[in-house]
Amino acid sequence: MTVFQNGVTHRLTSNPKMKILFVCLGNICRSPLAEGIMRHKLKEQSIDIEVDSAGIGGWQAGEPPDKRAIAIASKNGVEVSNIIARKFSVDDFEKFDKIYVMDLENKRDVMVQAPNENAKQKVDLFLNVLHPSSNAIVPDPWFGDSREFEEVFQLISKGCDAIIEELKK
Ligand code: 4NP
Repeated sequence: MTVFQNGVTHRLTSNPKMKILFVCLGNICRSPLAEGIMRHKLKEQSIDIEVDSAGIGGWQAGEPPDKRAIAIASKNGVEVSNIIARKFSVDDFEKFDKIYVMDLENKRDVMVQAPNENAKQKVDLFLNVLHPSSNAIVPDPWFGDSREFEEVFQLISKGCDAIIEELKK
């Protein structure tokens, strides 16, 4: 993949468009924030990568993100209101090159569905790119208030920056 930035061409990979999936429990708070923030940063940097998000559970499928997630994103200049929740599917192992999960339960629930070793290799904790091998998690803000959502937004923003830097290597 070729990235144009500040007039400089960065070749990321020779593969077709890279595809990244973010996964959390409900796909209404953390992973849509990651999808929206990542899209925003990629657009700013003219990087052509496919981004999507999904949830382990299907309870919220078809719904927009949580109002608090939409509000905190909007406050930070990121649009997530057009994202529609969907359930993670075993087909996602085929469709995506990397699958970033938000916490250890998400990782377990994704890994048990992996059809083979190659699929398992695609899965990593989202914050392991920012803090290698730390197994740090993005906490679920569902029971929190706007302060928790702001903290999660900033954490995800830093994680997205780290992923983009990793892609450029
Ligand atoms: P998310 O947060 O996994 O970051 O989307 C949650 C959303 C909904 C629920 C739990 C977590 N829920 O139990 O409905």
